[in-house]
Amino acid sequence: MTTVNQHFLELQGSYLFSEVAKRRTKYMEQNPSADVISLGIGDVTRGLPQAVIDAMHKAVDDMVNPSSFRGYGPEQGYSFLIDEIIAGDYNTRGVTLGNDEVFLSDGSKCDVGNIQEIFSTSSIVAVQDPVYPVYVDTNVMAGRAGSFESELGRYEKIVYLDCSAENNFKPSLPTERVDLIYLCYPNNPTGMTLTKDELKVWVDYAIENECIILFDSAYEAFITEDNVPHSIYEVEGARQVAIEFRSFSKTAGFTGIRCAYTVVPKELKGRDANGDYVSINELWNRRHTTKFNGVSYVTQKGAAAIYSPEGRAQIKELVEYYMTNAAMIRDGLREVGFTVFGGVNAPYIWLKTPEGYTSWSFFDYLLSEANIVGTPGVGFGQCGEGYFRLTAFGSRENTERAIERIKKLSL
Ligand code: MLT
Repeated sequence: MTTVNQHFLELQGSYLFSEVAKRRTKYMEQNPSADVISLGIGDVTRGLPQAVIDAMHKAVDDMVNPSSFRGYGPEQGYSFLIDEIIAGDYNTRGVTLGNDEVFLSDGSKCDVGNIQEIFSTSSIVAVQDPVYPVYVDTNVMAGRAGSFESELGRYEKIVYLDCSAENNFKPSLPTERVDLIYLCYPNNPTGMTLTKDELKVWVDYAIENECIILFDSAYEAFITEDNVPHSIYEVEGARQVAIEFRSFSKTAGFTGIRCAYTVVPKELKGRDANGDYVSINELWNRRHTTKFNGVSYVTQKGAAAIYSPEGRAQIKELVEYYMTNAAMIRDGLREVGFTVFGGVNAPYIWLKTPEGYTSWSFFDYLLSEANIVGTPGVGFGQCGEGYFRLTAFGSRENTERAIERIKKLSL
């Protein structure tokens, strides 16, 4: 009999969002007339911006004629999109990047999940708690996490950086040696952010301790406050120590289309088994070209259209739409006495569950009493127990209805 990868057997239960979907489906089967509003997984609900649609239609037409047809493209992405990304997302923030430092992909979930492959399986990994579960689960699969300690609800070898209301969901630096630090800002799930000075503390730490920061910036477009950096590379020295992940999923409604990118600066180095420096950019390039055949031409043309004047205006409107939802959820919950975080620079609202409710018991309560699906905080880690996440990605109508329903609950 073939032996399986034992590390997969250390994974706990099912992936968080699959579990939420499973419970939602079960509830709907048992209550077929229930009008369930889903504010669980952060999936967008608006259509694609018109500029994207137009560009994709045109790109489809390009595929008809042999003269403009595209087959395999560069695995890293077409320069027509990479150049727009660098000019539009980085140069505007005072950051310079080479076009061989940007790698397009089919999603940040895949990139943040795959990046760990190029590091030693003995690397010590630090994550924030609560945490986007992909960071932890992919390291479990690779064998870096050790056994799951059920009494603690944590993996023995992962270093958890606790985030709570007490530290305003901003973790302290690790107190032990770590190699890889996953940071997510604006944060999923708490919606909180770091200022440039606060982020600099992490960059300085990584430089001093020779570790690498894996900076997930998928929600960058939702930043509204001026003192919040949009890229880790706005911090001096970050090019030496950080990989940044960005996505078009939430920014431009690409959750179904699939397009994201990862920035791996040339200065970033790891060490080989002899202690000699190795280029991380070269290793990632090698991995990417071996395992990935590029994002489709049509998709990349659609993504490039986001950087046109019309595209920019349409995206701004899209982001504002969701952030208006976020403000409505935040204000509505506060009105009825909830303690609420996030929703200012991120499309997630992180709320404290009412007295007497755990994350999952509140999930069940909200589903059965208000027919609303959210995400239990504990699904993001032990520090998420007693919290609950709602997304601002619903339609305006559903968001309004959900808040009205919550206001009517007797909690
Ligand atoms: C979330 O709800 O946290 C995200 O939508 C999940 C994802 O982007 O994979």
